Amino acid sequence: MKRDAEELLKELCPDLNITKSSKEWVQRAEQVVAKTTQSRDIYPVVDHTQGEGPWIYDLKGNQYLDMTAGVAVRALGFRNPVVKDFEQRINGYLREVPGHDFDLIPQTLLAERLVGITPGDHEKEVFFTTSGGRAVESAVKSVMDNSHKFRFIAFRPAFHGRTGYALALTASKHAHKDFYPQGLDVIRGPYPYCFRCPFGQEEKSCSLECVQYLRDSIEFGGTDIAAIVVEPICGEGGIIPAPVKWFKEIRKLADELETRIISDEVQAGLGRTGKWWGIEHGDIIPDYICTAKALGGGFPFGATIGPKPLFTDFSRHSETFGAEPYVSLLSLSVIRTIEQDELLDNATKRGRQILKGLREIQESSNIVADVRGRGLMCAIEFVTDKKTNTIDSQKRDAVLNNAVNKQRLWILGAGRNCIRFLPPLNITSDQIDIALERFGKAVKSVK
Ligand SMILES: Cc1ncc(COP(=O)(O)O)c(C=O)c1O
Repeated sequence: MKRDAEELLKELCPDLNITKSSKEWVQRAEQVVAKTTQSRDIYPVVDHTQGEGPWIYDLKGNQYLDMTAGVAVRALGFRNPVVKDFEQRINGYLREVPGHDFDLIPQTLLAERLVGITPGDHEKEVFFTTSGGRAVESAVKSVMDNSHKFRFIAFRPAFHGRTGYALALTASKHAHKDFYPQGLDVIRGPYPYCFRCPFGQEEKSCSLECVQYLRDSIEFGGTDIAAIVVEPICGEGGIIPAPVKWFKEIRKLADELETRIISDEVQAGLGRTGKWWGIEHGDIIPDYICTAKALGGGFPFGATIGPKPLFTDFSRHSETFGAEPYVSLLSLSVIRTIEQDELLDNATKRGRQILKGLREIQESSNIVADVRGRGLMCAIEFVTDKKTNTIDSQKRDAVLNNAVNKQRLWILGAGRNCIRFLPPLNITSDQIDIALERFGKAVKSVK
């Protein structure tokens, strides 16, 4: 029989004060847990002891359908049998050996696997990290180490992480950047946010004025570019897929400048968009791919895959916890399951189902302005009304609140006025139907 979260905690931490009410845990967290991204006004305390597939629970036992997969982390959902089986098999083995200080078979196997699913004929190698931001920073360091160039191109909006070089590339919210000195010289271009094109163009007929703008910026800002860092689908900025013609122009620009393209696939990678890598939708070959989130099967893990040699000498870069055997083997199980269970195909099909359902909701609502996405990376954009298309974050938050607290649909915002859908890659058609029905009710509740 299942014990509740507090009971289990009493066993694990008999010396600590384990209280019973959800409200009290919120107050205690407010006292001692630093502010991060949690919105305590919307999301209840999650029961860390139960959950399966796309289902999670709060401390009161309410069940939620999770359309976030822990922000694209749990590609196979919670407590997937593959992960449970893996945990049992590995029980008793040495798990915690540093992968950067010694060679270990699991990391070599995983590196081979990652290189095998990465496009491009160039000789590649892999650097393992413990987060997405670090995967991006490793690519940045690799490019600088090899080219001795220090200037980068990045876009607006863009999210690449919150520390060091990654933060310098990020342009997502001023709260991320205010008062933090930036560690890189970055020339910024507009991301092809076609629904709100800053040049007033339509995607079908435009002449990529955004790329021309970027070319002008380089002309003034410096052509000695080390790399162009791009999200294949802008994630935190509002799940914005870039058009193929834009990718082609960016590749052309990179070739002219003799510069690298770093594809930040931390959110979009590892099958989420229906292909292994989001940039494959753009039909270009990037030089580097950065991945994390889904890679570790729920554990902190990331990787930078890029041209050999990533670093010109020993100790140019390393991480204490990089590539430990447990997480490397778990990662191999995740990749194998995505392949064996045809989850790329499922992501494509279920993604279409989500977009179709969201478009139906859009038709009958005056506050939904745009629906977009690729595979299981979809978003819906909220406005004051369809006539003005004015960005409305309050309406978005009201829908979010209703969805979570009334409909028991666990979803997340993105950008200033969007809600995103990032369910596990093995989500079923029936589960998507339930999610759409609940979401439709949440949208209807907001005028
Ligand atoms: C595209 C992208 N890059 C980098 C990051 C940073 O990843 P982490 O929080 O693991 O450092 C994120 C996180 O959301 C992301 O979406």
